[in-house]
Formats: sequence, C-alpha cells, structure tokens
Amino acid sequence: MYKRLERNDPCWCGSGKKYKACHAAFDDKIIKAELSGIEVPTRQLLKTEKDIEGIKKSAVINIACLDEVGSKIKAGMSTEEIDRIVYETTTKMGGIPADLGYEGFPKSVCTSINDEVCHGIPSEDIILQDGDIINVDCSTILDGYFSDSSRMFCIGNVSPEKKRLVDVTKECIEVGLKNVIPWTRIGDMGHAVHQHAIKNGYTVVREIGGHGCGNEFHEEPWVSYVSKPDTGMLMVPGMVFTIEPMVNMGTDKIFIDEENDWTVYTQDGKPSAQWEVEVLVTETGYEILSY
Ligand code: MF3
Ligand code: CO
Repeated sequence: MYKRLERNDPCWCGSGKKYKACHAAFDDKIIKAELSGIEVPTRQLLKTEKDIEGIKKSAVINIACLDEVGSKIKAGMSTEEIDRIVYETTTKMGGIPADLGYEGFPKSVCTSINDEVCHGIPSEDIILQDGDIINVDCSTILDGYFSDSSRMFCIGNVSPEKKRLVDVTKECIEVGLKNVIPWTRIGDMGHAVHQHAIKNGYTVVREIGGHGCGNEFHEEPWVSYVSKPDTGMLMVPGMVFTIEPMVNMGTDKIFIDEENDWTVYTQDGKPSAQWEVEVLVTETGYEILSY
C-alpha cells in the first residue's frame, strides 16, 4: 500500500522541501487511484531528478552506439562487427554494455535479423545480406543507471513488404508515445499500439514486452502491447519504461532457439520488426530518454 508521510516531513523525492509543499497532493492522487482498484507504481519506481540525470547520461552512450552502428552497417558486415562497435563505443565513453553477461548472454548487443524476433546473438558467421532487416537492441549502464533502446536497419534493397513492416512498427512507437498520458493506464497505451499493428495486417508478440527501466535493467511494470483498455499500472510522472513492440508480418507465435536458448524466432518464418524507446512520464506527457 502506498503511504503518505507526515505533512512536515522532508519529501521522499529528495527535493529538500517539506512533504506538504512537494509530493503530498501527488501522493493523494496515487492513493485515490489505488483505493479504486487501479494498480499504481511503488515509490521506488518514481525517478528522482538525480535518477533522471543519471539515466540521461547513460542514454548519451546508448544513442551514440546506435548512431555509430547506423553509420557503419551494410551488406557483407558480420553481426560480430556490430557487437564490436557497441562494445568499443560504450566502454570508450565510460559505460558498460548491459547485455554482456546478463543472465549469461554472451555478447554486448542483440542483433535480430528477418524472422528473428529478438535476442539474436552476434556472430562472426552471421553476415548481413542485401534485403535483410535487422534490429539492433542496445542497453547501457553508466554509474548504475540503465538506458535501453533499439532501432531497425534496412540493408540494401529491402522488399516493399519488409520496408512497410519496419515503417509501421516505427509508427507503433509514435502511437505508443502519444498515449503516454499521465494519470491514465499503461494498458490503454499498449492497446493503442496493438490496434495500429492489426489495422495494418500485422500481429504483435504476446509473451515478450517492455519494462520499467533506469535504476535497474528490468523493473516493474511489465509492459504488454496486446493489452486491454482500462488495465495495467497507472502512468505517473517520474515513471520510466520502454515501448518496444515486436511486430510480426504473419503469426504472433514464436519459439526459442534450442541450441543457444536465446534467439526468438517467428513460428512461420515470416519477418518481425521492433523499435524501442525509453520514455519518462512527465506532468504533461512524456520525454524521450533514449531512442
Ligand atoms: N535489450 C533487451 C530489452 O529490451 C534485453 C536484452 S537481454 C539480453 O529488454 F540478455 F538478451 F541481452
Ligand atoms: Co528493453
């Protein structure tokens, strides 16, 4: 249960102000929602100014990695080379690749091509081909703060069908962002994303979604992009989470590589696309932290 402080206590947010002059009214709103049965974030999920500064600094590296990959990526390149770019860029800037060693993940970045949905493992043996679409999903730690974003890249001449999948998936991010509205529910946002994908004839992966992020790699809430309206956690200013729908051209069914236990594929072998943005809920809407 979310708890009020005493009115003259110093506020929990670290502002140094008295509670009554700082987050008291804010907390009343959260408690009211909670009493009406809506899931609300714990205080721990609400980022302080210091947290937000830290996440933004981490995101500078995160974005630099994807920019660097974007400037170099081309047909004939191995995904190992992408891994090297991410490792070098991250460590030169003082960061740590969050993926490296995460639950045993062996590389610094995920590279997922065509029918690979996510968690593709970079390798010297995987060479980018003309016509491929690839998701590069990069996560960064700096001073204990996490940033997480991903982009799609089209290699050479990509078919109009695949190009459209990539573009519509990006539109899904825009739709998601537009629906990051403080004091509304995250299920409404996910629902809007899903609607945009199905309107375009696509499906959205159900089992894997987004997540709170910032002070940990993966925090509450888990974020679905096949959610129902009027469900899920209340979006409250100070929350940070990712919007990262995996949009499939065919079935939403997926399976995991039995050999490496990581790479996720579409069951029908049709392409999948994903973009990922890390977003802060603000008083008036949202702020993009990493993209
Ligand atoms: N970056 C992924 C995400 O968006 C997580 C990858 S975990 C890894 O949440 F171990 F596969 F790298
Ligand atoms: Co993520």
